[in-house]
Amino acid sequence: MTAAIIAYSLFGHTLRVAQELALQLGAPLSTIHAPDMKPGPLAMLRFGFAALTGQQTRVALLGPGAAGHDLTILAAPVWAGHVAVPMRSWLKQHPPLPGRIALVLTGGAAERPTGVFAEFARLSGALPCATLYVGQAMIAAGQDKAAVAALCDKLAVQSPLEA
Ligand SMILES: Cc1cc2nc3c(=O)[nH]c(=O)nc-3n(C[C@H](O)[C@H](O)[C@H](O)COP(=O)(O)O)c2cc1C
Repeated sequence: MTAAIIAYSLFGHTLRVAQELALQLGAPLSTIHAPDMKPGPLAMLRFGFAALTGQQTRVALLGPGAAGHDLTILAAPVWAGHVAVPMRSWLKQHPPLPGRIALVLTGGAAERPTGVFAEFARLSGALPCATLYVGQAMIAAGQDKAAVAALCDKLAVQSPLEA
């Protein structure tokens, strides 16, 4: 069983979690690039509105993707109570993912966003075999590495060298 990680991150929190996952699992990490979603004046309002109203945006995957792996780990931030628009756009535009799915969300809130995980699962077209929520307070407190390690234990993934 080998895994690949596909992440979207605007400010770097989700990327930090995804990079830790890649390190702990020895898994390749690809990132979703959204050229029209750049931070700037009123960006939070625009992006929040885009998330609330189900808008799409242009996206491109940077990296090797998930082909040939048994498990795809998708990681994205929560925007306005929804999966961030670039991850949502990428999931809508790409063919079905191979194998099992695990989902990672990051957000500003402390509590796990159950409804956003349900939306994420629906968009990915599969029931996730594992999920992880990392709130910003966990990252600030340096608790994200342990949370990632707990997820990795559940996933039972081999590094590409062992597979
Ligand atoms: C447009 C926008 C809307 C957001 N809405 C929420 C929200 O509804 N709930 C929440 O917990 N965090 C929300 N956040 C905070 C982000 O989810 C959080 O900061 C996340 O960790 C950022 O990930 P990133 O650094 O990978 O972009 C929002 C952030 C942005 C930019």
